[in-house]
Order: sequence, then structure tokens, then C-alpha cells
Amino acid sequence: MKYIDITKSGGSNVLKLKHMGKPLPKKSEILIKVKAAGVNRPDILQRMGLYPPPKGSPLYPGLEVAGIIESIGENVSGFSIGQQVCALLAGGGYAEYCVVPFQQVLPIPDGLSMIEAAAIPETFFTVWSNIFDIGKLKKNERVLIHGGSSGIGTTAIQLCSIFGSEVYVTVGSDEKRNACIDLGAKEAINYNKEDFYESIISHTDKRGVNLIMDMVSGDYVNKNIKLLSDKGRLIFIAFLKGPKAEANFGLVMQKRITITGSTLRPQSKIFKGKIAKNLYKYVWPYLEQKKIRPIIDSVYPIEKVSEAHDRMESNRHIGKIVLTV
Ligand SMILES: NC(=O)c1ccc[n+]([C@@H]2O[C@H](COP(=O)([O-])OP(=O)(O)OC[C@H]3O[C@@H](n4cnc5c(N)ncnc54)[C@H](OP(=O)(O)O)[C@@H]3O)[C@@H](O)[C@H]2O)c1
Repeated sequence: MKYIDITKSGGSNVLKLKHMGKPLPKKSEILIKVKAAGVNRPDILQRMGLYPPPKGSPLYPGLEVAGIIESIGENVSGFSIGQQVCALLAGGGYAEYCVVPFQQVLPIPDGLSMIEAAAIPETFFTVWSNIFDIGKLKKNERVLIHGGSSGIGTTAIQLCSIFGSEVYVTVGSDEKRNACIDLGAKEAINYNKEDFYESIISHTDKRGVNLIMDMVSGDYVNKNIKLLSDKGRLIFIAFLKGPKAEANFGLVMQKRITITGSTLRPQSKIFKGKIAKNLYKYVWPYLEQKKIRPIIDSVYPIEKVSEAHDRMESNRHIGKIVLTV
């Protein structure tokens, strides 16, 4: 089968199309013939040598796919050969075939294409786990998502809005601002024009927000803590501006703020399976009713994977970049 190898750590030119034998599913795994694979920022970090895959997962990139079930392990029930599915992987999605524990596989929501379905798992699992499971976001709470136009951000805006929260986001351009407002954000603050702390304090009548999901960190951290209301939750999912910060922890104590974070990729198949069940129950109906959708920025054939990575690193994209196989 064809797959994309990271030949050494470096720029997008280290990604090369190669050939190897088809993987075989173990007893509790499913073999998927991949039709489309999502590109995620962690793939870029892995290519640069900054995000090694967890033990036991393929060394080549790809955290999510959509495709057709080719074969199933003897302990798998509830799926059939030929079924159209999407799946969350710990690696190995940039390929013609992949194997994945059945717990991480979901049927493609009715009416969605392979390309759209491949753009779902990584961001929907991450947002659900962090904002709803860890952050326990409630109806009518106010939430701030940094990186609002990212794959993660466009999913978070839609999920938080549909479950009744008021969503604020930060973005780097007016084009991204408009896209986030169209998706349901109450306010999108272009951080190149305005200070996000001042802007959100003023938009919320000084009440601030109840929950922040932050992929930026660095000098955002102290402003995040200042913006959180009583019993606010600050959840880290990445550190695009670096993992170190100076902050006033007196406010954490006074406002009883919870600071936490998580990474999805190294978690167990049981953990991921619980998220899959909740997504299927609570989110799939909205996808099928077209009330929410994965936002597709661009699509590249797998042979042009380097161009797809360049597009992501340009930071010009809005939503998801997808490879077709
Ligand atoms: N913890 C987890 O389990 C988990 C899972 C998946 C992803 N992630 C992380 O979540 C983040 C988003 O992933 P994604 O795949 O959705 O990525 P993405 O679509 O590439 O989005 C990243 C966005 O971050 C913004 N950005 C980049 N550099 C920045 C900087 N220095 N300061 C401020 N903003 C910056 C850019 O938007 P602007 O131009 O608007 O700034 C960019 O569009 C990544 O950092 C990824 O590693 C974490």
C-alpha cells in the first residue's frame, strides 16, 4: 500500500510517498481502506520531530480517516465489511489502509462525504473531552476559544453554541473573524487589532468568561486568569507561544479557578471509546441534521501532502485540511 513517510525531522519536503505491505487487524481491530485523511497541527509537530508517536502506534503520520471497512478482527461486533466509517487514530492515517481499535471507529453521519467525515474525529474528540468532559461546560455559560478559526476552533464554536453557550474567540485576521461569527461566535477578536482581554471584558459587562480553551499560552496565560469568572476553568490543549508564563496565582485562589489540560493521542482505547459513544449519542444527530458541520478549508491528493502541510503552516487556512487517498 501507499503511505507517507517522515524520512527525517524537518520541513514539508521530508514527507515522501512510499510503499509497504497492508497492516493486519488484531482481534479487536478494524482494517479500513482509507478514502480521506485529516491533517492536524500535531502532524506538523511530529514531522518536525517535536511530537513523537505513542509507543506501539505507526511512526508515519495521520490521526483521523474516513473510509470503508475491509476486514474486522474476530472480537469485533457491531461493524460490517463494506461499511463506511470514520476513525480516530494514534498515527498511520496518511496511508491507503490503516488498522484501528474498534472503540475508536464510528459510522459516517448520514449525508456526509468521505472528505467531511475524515475532518471530524480529531477535533470533535478533543473538543468533547476538554470542554464537556473535563470543563463541564453548562448551558448559558460564556466560553473563550483561542485559535477560533483552527480545525479545533471551528468545531468548538459550533459545539459550544449548539449546547447553549455564548462563544468568544480570538483570531489573527478579519477574514477569520467573519468566518467565526458566521459559525456562531458572539464575538471574534482580531488579536492583531485589539487586546483580547480588554475587548472581552467590555463585551461581557466586566463579567468575563466561565471557561477558556487555550492552544496559545505564553503571554495569554495571565490575561486568561484575569478574564475567568468565579469557579472558572482554564484548559490547555497546546502551547503555540510556548509553555512558560508569568501569572498572578492570587487570582486563581480568590476566584477558585481550575487550571488543567490534556492530550488525547496517548490515551487508551477505552478512554477514546467513551468519548466516541458520547459523540455518537449527543453530536451525530446534529451532524446528520446539518445543524453543525466540519469546516473544510482545502483538499489535496495524498501525493501533494507537502502542499497540505505548507498550507497549514501558512496559518491562512480556516477549518480543516484534508488529504484524499
Ligand atoms: N491536546 C490535544 O489533545 C490536542 C488535540 C488536537 C490538537 N491540539 C492542538 O490544538 C491546536 C489546534 O490544532 P489544529 O489542528 O486545529 O490546528 P490549526 O488548524 O493549524 O490551527 C492553529 C491556529 O492557531 C493559530 N496560531 C498559530 N500560531 C499562533 C501563535 N503563535 N499565536 C497565536 N495563534 C497562533 C492560527 O490561527 P490565527 O492565525 O488566528 O492565530 C492557526 O490557525 C494545535 O496547537 C494542536 O497541537 C491539541
